Amino acid sequence: MNRMGVVGCGVMGAGIAEIGAKGGCDVIVVDAFPEALERAKARMAASLAKAEEKGKLSEPAEAILARIRWTTDLTELADREFVTEAIRELLEDKIALISQLDGILSPEAIIATNTSSIPVAQIAAASQHPGRVLGTHYFNPVPVMPLVEVVSAIQTDPSAADRTHEFCAEVLGKKVIRAKDRSGFVVNALLVPYLLDAIRSLENGVASKEDIDEGMVGGCGMPMGPLTLCDMIGLDTMLLVSESLYAEHLELRFAPPALLKRHVEAGMYGRKSGRGFYDYS
Ligand code: CAA
Repeated sequence: MNRMGVVGCGVMGAGIAEIGAKGGCDVIVVDAFPEALERAKARMAASLAKAEEKGKLSEPAEAILARIRWTTDLTELADREFVTEAIRELLEDKIALISQLDGILSPEAIIATNTSSIPVAQIAAASQHPGRVLGTHYFNPVPVMPLVEVVSAIQTDPSAADRTHEFCAEVLGKKVIRAKDRSGFVVNALLVPYLLDAIRSLENGVASKEDIDEGMVGGCGMPMGPLTLCDMIGLDTMLLVSESLYAEHLELRFAPPALLKRHVEAGMYGRKSGRGFYDYS
């Protein structure tokens, strides 16, 4: 597989497109909003410039960028062999997109969803060819974090999962783990309760946000504190992920704390909006 498509170019979509182009693929990035495409181009150029400066690239950043086409037109994906959707974590949006893609792609093309918390079977059910739909869950920042979870739904054709596993490992250079189609898969089922507990600690006045973060960095060797990480993931995404996990497991450890909801209602989404638990302005 060499012809790759990415739909949705927020932080995750842009990162997935970057590693695809770095792996030598011909990549088309689609987003409904031209301004999102512009933001993603700038983000990717900055990311590649940093990688280049640190000697992480085997060719000039410009050569990698030249393998990417940017468009608002989904039909340009018609010849793609491997399409990843990274639109927001809303089942109805993902279902609508998958059925649109069904009408554009050849039935052999694989559709991967970068959902982090919606069961893949629910998304695959929107396709006329559900065997080609599976989950590939990357981690933020995608060009830096080595892992991807490959998730087969009960409808997924095992050969599609095997081809995707090989593609992620050989072309995208990722460490692959295979996970069952259970909301949260392996990593988020463990990570999200920890992050939500950090928010609950702040809510309950256990310590200041700085001390909660410093506690986990200095005490446990985490690369960043949990509240800083929530701001990086995006508090709107954290809320959607937490709601999906709670709906699936019905366990309180996945329930969104009120403080998280209040931040999202106030438009304080974290780093991307300039303010979350911390102020980035
Ligand atoms: N391509 C390749 N390498 C790159 C790169 C790029 N575009 N950009 C940066 N790098 C490299 C850097 O060269 C650097 O390498 P060295 O260590 O060899 O020097 C390394 O990546 C780290 O880069 P930075 O210097 O930019 O950053 P840092 O050292 O300040 O670390 C961080 C930043 C990687 C974000 C680190 O703080 C970290 O690991 N944080 C935790 C992130 C995490 O937990 N992510 C998961 C979130 S959960 C999720 O995503 C799933 C979900 O569904 C919610």
